[in-house]
Amino acid sequence: MPLLLLLLILSPPVSQPPPFNHSFHFILLKMNKEMGHRSPLLLLPSAVFSVLMAAAAAGTGISAAAGPSRCGSGGNAAVLFVFGDSNSDTGGLEAAMGLNAGLPSGRAFFHRPTGRFSDGRLILDFLCDSLNTSYLTPYLDSLGSGFRNGANFAVGGSATLPRYKLFSLHVQVLQFLHFKSRSLQPVARGSLGLISEEGFQKALYLIDIGQNDLSDSFALGLSYDQVIGKIPYFVSEIKDAIKTLYDNGGRNFWVHGTGPLGCLPQRLTLRRAAKGDLDTNGCVVSYNSAAKEFNLRLSDLCAQMGSELKDATVVYTDVYSIKYDLIANHTRYGFKSPLLSCCGYGGPPYNYNINITCGNPGSQACQNGLQYISWDGVHYTDAANSIAAAKLLSSDYSRPKLKFDYFCHH
Ligand SMILES: *[C@@H]1O[C@H](CO)[C@@H](O)[C@H](O)[C@H]1NC(C)=O
Ligand SMILES: *[C@@H]1O[C@H](CO)[C@@H](O)[C@H](O)[C@H]1NC(C)=O
Ligand SMILES: *[C@@H]1O[C@H](CO)[C@@H](O)[C@H](O)[C@H]1NC(C)=O
Ligand SMILES: *[C@@H]1O[C@H](CO)[C@@H](O)[C@H](O)[C@H]1NC(C)=O
Repeated sequence: MPLLLLLLILSPPVSQPPPFNHSFHFILLKMNKEMGHRSPLLLLPSAVFSVLMAAAAAGTGISAAAGPSRCGSGGNAAVLFVFGDSNSDTGGLEAAMGLNAGLPSGRAFFHRPTGRFSDGRLILDFLCDSLNTSYLTPYLDSLGSGFRNGANFAVGGSATLPRYKLFSLHVQVLQFLHFKSRSLQPVARGSLGLISEEGFQKALYLIDIGQNDLSDSFALGLSYDQVIGKIPYFVSEIKDAIKTLYDNGGRNFWVHGTGPLGCLPQRLTLRRAAKGDLDTNGCVVSYNSAAKEFNLRLSDLCAQMGSELKDATVVYTDVYSIKYDLIANHTRYGFKSPLLSCCGYGGPPYNYNINITCGNPGSQACQNGLQYISWDGVHYTDAANSIAAAKLLSSDYSRPKLKFDYFCHH
């Protein structure tokens, strides 16, 4: 990328600087981003997760017969590289911006804030559990990070476009290339403990992005047709990312479709759409249609890339159906009001106020996060993520129908 362009993005305007505000959510709003009970009650989300995992394992899995797993533990751990937005951010935005969110963020599992946009674990964390590999540390976090089992390039607020806005998918892929060349230098000198060329080739490349592209487009006031018109450009960025990672040795890809945007309490609160634009579950029809259109294009792309790129496997996973099922069938999963955010302000129907978002003074968190799908109006709770991850691991939602650990057997 031209240096001038980089400088333009990084340098602040020359006018009077505003007083510095350390509030996490203030900065998030400024960044113009996506800010934008379990039955029976006694089951903890992790217990639900284990039960569902056992059920999934008992099913007929393709991977079971595929030979010994190459994903062990220690030096032989599965290697994952993750690209995306806050749905997968394990602390990247906080590291990048020098922020520290306070509680209640992280209260459910870690019992401390970790930089995740949730009360606990993300889908990605449960996926790491399933591989017996440790949680991924953010590429941008310089303290306490370990990159033996991969790196997480996902940063909250990221979108595919604009291309050079931090931390777009393209920038994340550039960071990966930097990471790779920096890793291979010491490996070539005999250093152990870093990922080798073979490690990069056998790794899984996970991409989950697009929610902010859609969300930001609607937030800007674009019409439904205008948003639909932009989708091919978003998907084209994902195509470029896969192609670049492939050209640099990646062979195993796992791509998430986007979730039901129109069911997010934040989107429901801020929607410009007409009042009548709600489906039987109370979600905004046009936002969800756009999400489905994006997913259609994305799944086509994955099928096309999977057949065009020699020796590559590109799995598309229908995260939309997984998440919409949680909302539509919420009572079956032990959730109460599927569109009410646990942490926020204002009470029913959505408990979301753009000026008093979760973590800001005046916001309040619900007593029992196990009864809620939405944590802060945009992101899911630990409880919801544990169920979503278990469904995702079943392979029922994936095309081709492979298990998440397929790359351990390739
Ligand atoms: C910083 O932003 C937060 C959230 O918008 C606000 O409540 C707070 O008063 C601001 N603090 C300062 C020092 O401006
Ligand atoms: C993770 O560990 C469990 C229990 O030890 C084992 O059954 C499973 O095969 C392991 N998964 C992978 C991907 O190695
Ligand atoms: C709700 O659950 C039923 C029964 O499992 C299933 O047939 C249906 O597809 C689910 N609804 C959604 C929207 O996923
Ligand atoms: C949020 O703050 C803005 C600017 O002060 C104000 O115009 C708007 O009405 C507020 N919105 C809510 C829902 O309180």
